[in-house]
Amino acid sequence: MDWGLKNRLSRIIKPHNNRALMLAVDHGYFLGPTEKLENPKKVIAPILKYCDSLMVTRGVQRTSVSPTSDTPMVLRVSGGSSIIGDDLSQEDITVSLEEAIRLNASAVAMSIFVGSKYEYQTIVNLGKLVNEAEKYGMPVLAVTAVGKELGKDARYLSLACRVAAEQGAHIVKTYYCDNFEKVVQSCPVPIIVAGGKKIPERDALQLTYNSIKAGAVGLDMGRNIWQSEHPVAMIQAARSIIHGNSNVEQAYSLYKKLAAQDNQNKSKNQNKSKKQNNPNQNKSKKQNNPNQNKSKKQNNPNQNKSKNQNKSKKQNNPNQNKSKKQNNPNQNKSKKQNNPNQNKSSNSNQSK
Ligand code: 5RP
Repeated sequence: MDWGLKNRLSRIIKPHNNRALMLAVDHGYFLGPTEKLENPKKVIAPILKYCDSLMVTRGVQRTSVSPTSDTPMVLRVSGGSSIIGDDLSQEDITVSLEEAIRLNASAVAMSIFVGSKYEYQTIVNLGKLVNEAEKYGMPVLAVTAVGKELGKDARYLSLACRVAAEQGAHIVKTYYCDNFEKVVQSCPVPIIVAGGKKIPERDALQLTYNSIKAGAVGLDMGRNIWQSEHPVAMIQAARSIIHGNSNVEQAYSLYKKLAAQDNQNKSKNQNKSKKQNNPNQNKSKKQNNPNQNKSKKQNNPNQNKSKNQNKSKKQNNPNQNKSKKQNNPNQNKSKKQNNPNQNKSSNSNQSK
């Protein structure tokens, strides 16, 4: 393996622990503006720094990732069908190697559809892509895409991964399944696992943990990160398993802690923006009803009158309070006797 290829691979699979956290945001190439990835730039910005590499299409890379980013790019170079078309497996190579180099890709990626109508076309394309890519020391990631009618079991996934590796793919991406060790053991190149459809956060972390335990080098996760209510918390939790050797409980606790912080920040920002949007809230109430206090008085012209009546009552009976004391001259005295330290303690509190 030549120096350039090794160097590029080491950006994706970290050499110190042989692990990889790839963030997948290439879904639009056949799904269009899929849920919660409608604005890739906004989605990518807060989570980019937590992944080792980003899986993108050239369109998203150009428009939604800063060229000053130092995150390695894994560039999808295949496409041609959409979710509403006849057959998703009908893909070709759509991006040249020159373009991948221009975009400073650290690897190129394409899908193969083993067992589908266009199996032959996609597998031959993988072989051709490896021929071309190796001229430039560019690693190839083969995505083992599964058609609707095919089960994601160990037998099928082992076959698809092995076919990809035999064509010369340097990394293979596949799905997690029962007996996943078998898939890993029969594939001679590193395997990374796709997250798949959105599932509860704890389950996605369990999938991450199980994949690593079974021998995958890491994850290429998309929907289970950016379709989460808390993508920044979720990517950090997944990262803690891949690079921090956390177990599922530890990772899920981290997720919950970061999610709670995220909620707090969100509600603070909401309050802030409410105030900013309506700085004259209190002012305008008064402005809307300048006669508010006036009218209250007008509605109850006797309010002050009755206050005055109380005043005059007192004047008529100046001994009212006096006579109460006279009826019980020892009132205060007996209180002090019951609690002789009353004043003492309040003084000692003051001196502290
Ligand atoms: C789409 C892909 C995705 O990158 C891959 O499926 C990973 O994303 P997710 O975790 O959402 O499944 O290859 O074709």
